[in-house]
Amino acid sequence: MAQPKIALIGGGQIGGTLALLAGLKELGNVVLFDIVEGLPQGKTLDLAQGGAVEGYNAHLSGTNSYEGIAGADVVIVTAGVPRKPGMSRDDLLSINLKVMAAVGEGIKTYAPNAFVICITNPLDAMVWALRQFANHPAEKIVGMAGVLDSARFRHFLSEEFKVSKEDVTAFVLGGHGDTMVPMPRFSTVAGIPLPELVKMGWTTQEKLDQIIQRTRDGGAEIVGLLKTGSAFYAPASSAIQMAESYLKDQKRVLPVAAYVDGPYGIKDLYVGVPAVIGENGVERIVELQLTAEEKAALDKSAGAVQGLIEACKKMDPRLG
Ligand code: APR
Repeated sequence: MAQPKIALIGGGQIGGTLALLAGLKELGNVVLFDIVEGLPQGKTLDLAQGGAVEGYNAHLSGTNSYEGIAGADVVIVTAGVPRKPGMSRDDLLSINLKVMAAVGEGIKTYAPNAFVICITNPLDAMVWALRQFANHPAEKIVGMAGVLDSARFRHFLSEEFKVSKEDVTAFVLGGHGDTMVPMPRFSTVAGIPLPELVKMGWTTQEKLDQIIQRTRDGGAEIVGLLKTGSAFYAPASSAIQMAESYLKDQKRVLPVAAYVDGPYGIKDLYVGVPAVIGENGVERIVELQLTAEEKAALDKSAGAVQGLIEACKKMDPRLG
């Protein structure tokens, strides 16, 4: 049977790691696209040679032409630039918006049926714009942030409780960034919600608050340590989990940046919500009953995303 085709747009740190993970997990054949000549070709040649040792037979190739992504089943987008010191939010927005316009055109022409996962920051605004540029069905295009944010939360919680990360579930809602909304009530150790664990004396509210803040600052903490780049291993793992759920119709319930138009009282926005990912893409958005406090935090987060989208609309009249 023909293998699925996975197109990776952007062959940098995350793109290369995505290709490695797709190979190791035997998800399909991989084509890596980048505007830098030789980069995707060199990386995929290196990775293909690794297949002889690791035992994967996937076909891995690199390209500088959008034709190479033709017929892709999954497209994962990391193309763009990360925010550098001295760069304003609007500078980053304007550069990556132009990249999304080019990537969207490529998807529209060559991969109109693909399940698209966007990782480029600022995530919620970029995936919103990418959908417009690609004219893609909303259920077939999502952003990756929540799986990563909740992975960070789960990691910190597992360290606090000294239990396996596998037994820690965590939910985060809202935009990717400072206004992200971690949800302690829906985060558990083996089914026991975090507020119960505080009552049981496993941790204190103060420690929990510190962990929540560290989760919010998770990306910045890694940038501060690396100095020359941002996180790439966990972001790649997170996107691969989403791709796998689509390709294998696993119907995983994952926090993703999905197109929300109605649920949670949110209109025409991409924002982090729990969603079922299966063969049809986003098959269901899970609408939790929020407390007034949680709803206010989500509204604030959605407002921040809305602000970025308005800025995008001003920068590119096609989005208006
Ligand atoms: N088309 C295709 N690729 C592009 C384009 C473009 N128009 N513009 C830049 N690129 C490529 C760069 O050549 C580079 O190889 O995108 C790649 C980005 O790679 P890195 O700089 O290594 O960034 P990475 O760490 O992979 O993160 C990518 O994900 O988490 C976000 O904030 C992060 O937006 C950033 C993205």
